Amino acid sequence: MSAHNSPMEKHPIPEAIARDAHVNADQYKAMYEASVNDPEGFWREQGAALKWSKPFTKVKNTTFAHPDVSIKWFEDGEMNVCENCVDRHLDTRGDQVAIIWEPDSPTEASKHITYSELHREVSKLANVYKTLGVEKGDRVVLYMPMIPEAAYAMLACARIGAVHSIVFGGFSPDALAARVKSCDAKLLVTADQAPRGGKATPLKVNADAAMEVCGDVQTLVVERTGADVGLKEGRDHSYAALMAQASEDCPAVAVNAEDPLFILYTSGSTGQPKGVVHSSAGYLVYAALTHKYVFDYKDDDIFWCTADVGWVTGHSYIVYGPLANGATTLMFEGVPTYPDASRFWQVCDEHKVTQFYTAPTAIRALMGLGDEFVTKCDLSSLRILGTVGEPINPEAWNWYNEIVGKDKCPIVDTWWQTETGGHLMTPLPGAIETKPGSCTLPFFGVQPVILDPQTGEEITTTEAEGVLCIKDSWPAQMRTVYGDHDRFVSTYFSDYKGYYFTGDGCRRDADGYYWITGRVDDVINVSGHRMGTAEVESALVAHEKVAESAVVGYPHDIKGQGIYAYVTLMSGEEPSEELRKELSDWVRKEIGPIAKPDLIQWAPGLPKTRSGKIMRRILRKIAEDDFGALGDTSTLADPSVVDDLIENRMNRG
Ligand code: WTA
Repeated sequence: MSAHNSPMEKHPIPEAIARDAHVNADQYKAMYEASVNDPEGFWREQGAALKWSKPFTKVKNTTFAHPDVSIKWFEDGEMNVCENCVDRHLDTRGDQVAIIWEPDSPTEASKHITYSELHREVSKLANVYKTLGVEKGDRVVLYMPMIPEAAYAMLACARIGAVHSIVFGGFSPDALAARVKSCDAKLLVTADQAPRGGKATPLKVNADAAMEVCGDVQTLVVERTGADVGLKEGRDHSYAALMAQASEDCPAVAVNAEDPLFILYTSGSTGQPKGVVHSSAGYLVYAALTHKYVFDYKDDDIFWCTADVGWVTGHSYIVYGPLANGATTLMFEGVPTYPDASRFWQVCDEHKVTQFYTAPTAIRALMGLGDEFVTKCDLSSLRILGTVGEPINPEAWNWYNEIVGKDKCPIVDTWWQTETGGHLMTPLPGAIETKPGSCTLPFFGVQPVILDPQTGEEITTTEAEGVLCIKDSWPAQMRTVYGDHDRFVSTYFSDYKGYYFTGDGCRRDADGYYWITGRVDDVINVSGHRMGTAEVESALVAHEKVAESAVVGYPHDIKGQGIYAYVTLMSGEEPSEELRKELSDWVRKEIGPIAKPDLIQWAPGLPKTRSGKIMRRILRKIAEDDFGALGDTSTLADPSVVDDLIENRMNRG
């Protein structure tokens, strides 16, 4: 991070981009000013770009005032998200490709789905949902591979006003069960298996196991690999069989602008994951606008976001943003390193991708495997590169810029969150010069502020460092925590009254550029996946041999952060390598592979205050190998535990 402290040259905007982009520096400034000086006027115009069944007259009705937080956009309008993403384009783009699907194995053929085909498939599936009794407002959980049917399943919900909740295919049966239960799902849509990297995740087997925990839910099973997974009579239905009988005629139902489009569970600093609720109209307006400007999307471009639809990035930038703009969006089922480390670049080459959007962890992993995997492919179609999910280190940024982008493609480092629905701070390719590791400046309508964490006062000097908050609402802001509005208010609006608190630390440099310094709460970011340390801890203590546990992040070369778990065993239990593996496998089973601890340290005791609070600051320092700077340990009940932890700290390798 030291590079952040030296004055840094801005990377100039490549000439071709500066000439042709949607906005240049002056236009960005003018539009940004307009968006914050007259949000009503700015968003009225943007909102009008959608197709409305009943036009809105009210634009913005929002307050961050504790405890009456309320966020409404376009509140008296009616529209349908699916109609806006599909039907609206039929006249002009019926034969244009909406989705390019690239399968896990390069030997299997890719698919090109036009807007007309998309319309037909989604309409049929929406009718299937209806025959299964799904109605407006009902929740549908999706547990899917990265196949076009995942997009159909999302859009078909939107078409009839049902609310989807996607559970990432890498989550375990227990995690799936918790999410199905928490939103009281009417239907589960899954597939027999999910091929990834040459292996198949047994989605249906996992779903069966989940239903052992949460009870039976009607299940629709897409035949992806054709594996014999068995359908339970009266509960499970074959996708192929029901689609074969379904009518292609299914009118889109107009919903209120504020009706929920989806729920997406995400990790917080305490307790179980929370169901982030997103709206229909405001979300879509913002996803579409950011997709257009941040990626400088134009007709005939081929846009590829490598995320999984199980994360918010997949929602906003594989499906909703691109399709609302009538774009061609590429959906990839596989992983960057299968069959070899050239896969990303081969796909870019084959499909002539113009915008490529991925996570720093993938860039770091590929960077270490050699440049030839990149240079042997023709990447001349690329125009814009993007990153998301975690801070990118300058070394990875430079490699991405030089080896992948040949110094001709601006890198948009997009900072945002599941809660924000779309990008909040990011360069715009033709308007904002970049600096490696900085998300630069706010998007239209976004007012970031840096607060002093102690006083809660806004720091108004240009150069500033503190916690990052947002001053006023934007249309894609989450509306509530599903079933728990109080938790919404207390998580995001009570530490710093009057502001939305992001949970991130941030620095603003002399040029006014923003640099995210990482989470200031107990959330860690492992390979761009967000994980609450409390979730991993509660999985560990659920094991019969574990008395207590504390989990922290530590710097990891590829993953950004790794998971470091301190574990105190029940008395009488002996530490061993076998037990270490058993605990790792246990967490994997409880939550999923992404939550598996990288390092487990046996801790006879944990550093606690006299009131029994675990001093995580100390545990973080030890995990970071930075125990010279432990700070004040005088409030510890038993300072000697720290010496033991330091002595037996794990080699971070
Ligand atoms: C982090 C992902 C630095 C940040 C869209 C945020 C980033 C959390 C960036 C949200 C970025 C995301 N630079 N940090 N460009 N993008 N983050 O909800 O800590 O999975 O709060 O949303 O990821 O993660 P989430």
